[in-house]
Amino acid sequence: MTVLDTANAASLMDRFGRVHTDLRVSITDRCSLSCSYCVPPGGLPLMPVGTLLTVEEIERLVRIAVGMGVTKVRITGGEPLVRADVVNIVSRLAQLAPRPELCLTTNGVGLSRLARPLEDAGLNRVNISLDTLDALAYLRLTGLDRLGDVLAGIEEAMRRDFTQVKLNAVALKGLTEEAGPALLEYALARGLELRFIEQMPLGGGQWHSSNIMTADDLLSLLSQHHELTPIPRCDSMPATRYLVDSGPGIVGVIPSVTRPFCGDCSRVRLTSDGQIRACLFSDDAQDVRGLVRSGADDAQIENALRQAIWAKRPGHTIGSQSFQPPSRIMKAIGG
Ligand code: 5AD
Repeated sequence: MTVLDTANAASLMDRFGRVHTDLRVSITDRCSLSCSYCVPPGGLPLMPVGTLLTVEEIERLVRIAVGMGVTKVRITGGEPLVRADVVNIVSRLAQLAPRPELCLTTNGVGLSRLARPLEDAGLNRVNISLDTLDALAYLRLTGLDRLGDVLAGIEEAMRRDFTQVKLNAVALKGLTEEAGPALLEYALARGLELRFIEQMPLGGGQWHSSNIMTADDLLSLLSQHHELTPIPRCDSMPATRYLVDSGPGIVGVIPSVTRPFCGDCSRVRLTSDGQIRACLFSDDAQDVRGLVRSGADDAQIENALRQAIWAKRPGHTIGSQSFQPPSRIMKAIGG
C-alpha cells in the first residue's frame, strides 16, 4: 500500500488533511445568459454534446463519491436549468443511499417553471445568482432582458418548501456601488440571505486584483446604510456573515481573492465533460468520463477520485506573480 492508499482510503482526504464532502456537479457548459465577467467578448466554443456526461454516468459517479464521504451535492453549470433532463438528474440523485443534500445554483431565468418539479424531485436548496435589480443594467451585463423572469423565479422558489433559498451577487466595480444596497434591501424585505462574491479571474478576459471591488469595499458601502455585526464562522463556509441591524437579516461576503479560504476547502468538482477537478484554479484533472466509457469498475473510479484530491495544492495563488488563470472559463468548470 502506498501512503496515498493508507491516508485516505475511506474518505476523500488530501495531503493537508482537508476532507472533501462537497461535490459540485456541472451538468452543462451552456448558459442562457452571457455575463460580461464570465464570457469573453466573442464567446468561446461550447463542448461537443457527446462529451457531456449522461444522467446514468452522473448518477454512477455521484454514487461512488457519496460512498467516499460526499454528503452535499451542488448541481451547477453553465446554467443547469438549460439541460432538459435536470429534473431527472435531481430525482436520480435523491434516490442515492446515503442520500446527499441536494443543492442547485441557477441564474433563475428558468426557475419559475422548474422550481416545483425540482422540489418534487427532491431538491433541498437553491442559490440564485443576481447582480442587479435594474433592468437596463441587467441587460447590459447579461446580454438578455430577463430580469422579470429571474424575479418571478425567486418568488416561485420562495413559495416552495426548500430548506434554503439564497441570492449570490458578484461584486463588480461600476455596478455594485448602486446595485449592492438595492439588492440588500430586496433580500432583507423577503428574508433571503444575500452573499456578495469577490470577482475572481475566471472569465477569460481582463482581470486585475487592483481593479476589483473587495470585501472591505463592500463592507464600507453597506455600512453606509446598515449596521453590520460579524457572526462567528462555522465549519468550512466561505462567506463571512454579518447580522444586518441586529438581525434577523443576514448578509454574507465571500472574500475569495483578498482572504482566501483554501485552508478549509472541502470542495471537489465534476465538470460536465467528466473531469474531476479538485480546485477551481488548477488545471489538474482526472478524466473519469474516459474511465466510465472504457468500462472501468468502481474501484478504478474511486482511485481516480483519490488521485485528484491527493494532487490538490494548498491554495490558489491569485494575485501572486506566478498565478496563471485556469485554461477553462468558470462556466466550463462549474460554479
Ligand atoms: N467571480 C466570482 N463569482 C463568479 N461567478 C461567476 N463568475 C464569477 C467570477 N469570475 C458566480 C456566479 C454564481 C456563482 C456560481 O459564481 O454569478 O453566482
